[in-house]
Order: sequence, then structure tokens, then C-alpha cells
Amino acid sequence: MIIKNIENIKGFMPSHEGEALYKWANKFCHKGPVIEIGTYCGKSTIYLAHGAIEADEVVYTIDHHGGSEEHQLKEEYFDNEVYDQTNSIVNTFPLFLKNIKHYNLENIVPIVASSLIASKSWNTSAGLVFIDGGHSMESALSDYNSWAKHVIKGGALVIHDIYEDPEKGGQAPYEIYKKALRNGFMEHERVDTIVCLIKV
Ligand SMILES: C[S@@+](CC[C@H](N)C(=O)[O-])C[C@H]1O[C@@H](n2cnc3c(N)ncnc32)[C@H](O)[C@@H]1O
Repeated sequence: MIIKNIENIKGFMPSHEGEALYKWANKFCHKGPVIEIGTYCGKSTIYLAHGAIEADEVVYTIDHHGGSEEHQLKEEYFDNEVYDQTNSIVNTFPLFLKNIKHYNLENIVPIVASSLIASKSWNTSAGLVFIDGGHSMESALSDYNSWAKHVIKGGALVIHDIYEDPEKGGQAPYEIYKKALRNGFMEHERVDTIVCLIKV
């Protein structure tokens, strides 16, 4: 599926990986809704929501919108466009809202909270859980422990930024990917650094 001008949306999802995300959402949301951890400005959310439309499913997308460690002032991925000068904080929520409005997507349910807080009394199974939140070991493990258990049998767990080689990228997503393989998931498909596992 071609999503018009998606390359202009700010974010961390290259189009070849985004198209895989679209395809997996389209396939697995027939089993239940999509849960995304790590909205940022909505780039991956837009791929997921387009994938979920056909089955009339929704995407719950969770982010405190304060950015990860690497998005903060003076850090590697700081972006002035999502910096609230008045309050001296990163705030990606306004641009996220603008982006989803542009695509007229009504099947997105934003949850503005930390992943752990949002998971506390969560009780809905998911056809697909996508983990792309904080990339510290603590954050990635917490996201895995909080959300992977909500994937329905036969549903999918998708993890972004898998790098086997520590020279190429952080190891936390790779660690939770290996943990999932040891804990009832099997690999379905992989495109570059994004991987889709199925709960068996
Ligand atoms: C790599 S970005 C997500 C990129 C996005 N999926 C895309 O396609 O552009 C990670 C996001 O996770 C969010 N995040 C980090 N730790 C979080 C936490 N503990 N709870 C909720 N959101 C968190 C950050 O605010 C940031 O927006």
C-alpha cells in the first residue's frame, strides 16, 4: 500500500520497514486490536492504522510524549521542532495530532502515559503488539514484560531496531527479541531491523 507523502512525516520508521509494519497489522489485526509502545510523531502509528482499517480495528498507541533519553536537549536525536520552548520540555504530542489529522485516521486511540502506568490495569488482548519505546535495557525489558503477555495466541509481537552487532546499534531490543524466542514466540518474518514474531 502506498501511503501518500509518509516520507515527510517526522520519525524513525524507514519506508521498507514501515511497509512491513503495515502488512503485519493488516494480517494480525483480524485477531484483535493493535497496541503500539512508542508513538513519537505518529509515523509508525500511521502505517499500523492503515493496516488495521480493513478489519475495522483500532491502534492503541502509548507514549508519554516527553521523548526518550536520546531525544532530550543536547542529545543525539534532539529535534528543535518538537521542543516546547515555553516549558523547556520535549513534547511530540502536538505534531502527532497534526499528523494523524492530516491522514484523517479515526482508528487511532492515543494514550498519553508512561508505558508501565498504561499497562497497570490493561486487560485487552491484542492481535499485534509493537514495541518501539525507550531503548535502554530497563525500558525495553519493562515494555516486553508489560505488553508481550497481551498478544493473543496466533497474534504477533513486533520489535524495532534489532541489531546483532553492538557496533551498529543498542542491544536492548535485540535482548527482548531473544527473550521472546525463549518464551513462546517464534519468528515469522524480518525486514532489516524490524522483526515479527508469532505467539505459538
Ligand atoms: C524511537 S521513538 C518511537 C518512534 C516511532 N515509533 C516512529 O515510527 O517514529 C520512542 C518513543 O518512545 C517514547 N517513550 C520512551 N520511554 C517511554 C516510556 N517509558 N513510556 C512511554 N513512552 C516512552 C518516547 O517518548 C518516544 O517518543
